[in-house]
Amino acid sequence: MSKVTITIDGKTVTANEGEKLLWAALDNGIYIPHLCAIREAHEPAASCRLCFVEIEGHARPVTACTETVREGMAVRTRSLRVDRLVKTAFELLLSTHRLDCARCPKNRACALQQIARERKLKLKNTRLPDFIKNLPVDESHPLIGYDPKKCVLCGRCVRVCRDCTGLGVLGFAYRGFERRVTTFENAPLAESRCTGCGECVNACPVGALYFKKAAARCG
Ligand code: FES
Repeated sequence: MSKVTITIDGKTVTANEGEKLLWAALDNGIYIPHLCAIREAHEPAASCRLCFVEIEGHARPVTACTETVREGMAVRTRSLRVDRLVKTAFELLLSTHRLDCARCPKNRACALQQIARERKLKLKNTRLPDFIKNLPVDESHPLIGYDPKKCVLCGRCVRVCRDCTGLGVLGFAYRGFERRVTTFENAPLAESRCTGCGECVNACPVGALYFKKAAARCG
């Protein structure tokens, strides 16, 4: 892969031609908020809408996880428009996520905490109504638990469960506010084909999927 030179926030960096801008920025130590992107995925889901940037010559902000690096491109990760879009996307996510940081297994490693810290945003839903799903925690599986009240529908678990394990135990069901990550026919995890490999837990950025006991982990 040939190298190209681009500028991000005035800093000249090199990147692999054709790679996605999000990874080029992160690899060069420049933070862009992101939640749904998976580096190995062929097609970005681009569902969280957190990774907006401005690119010289583009009329509107674009998502860095879908934008391909090209020689000479000039990128800004911050502007009034970008900050407004990121803030709105972040608030929408918070309106669907039960904040329980102190007791959350992802505390201090949570993508929402990192975004709040990096962008100086409140880790609190103050503006929008709560859209937190009134669904029970699934503790049926011996290794893995799932709290739908924390799920932000980024889809990372669905993709790794399908692409890495080939099992496709997890998927999206329903539409609109009812949309959720679940198993076939909403069966408890213990009654699904889940082998407990833990790929979904590792992929979950917010602690919706978690290992019940660290010692019980396989792999
Ligand atoms: S990381 Fe780009 S839209 Fe989610």
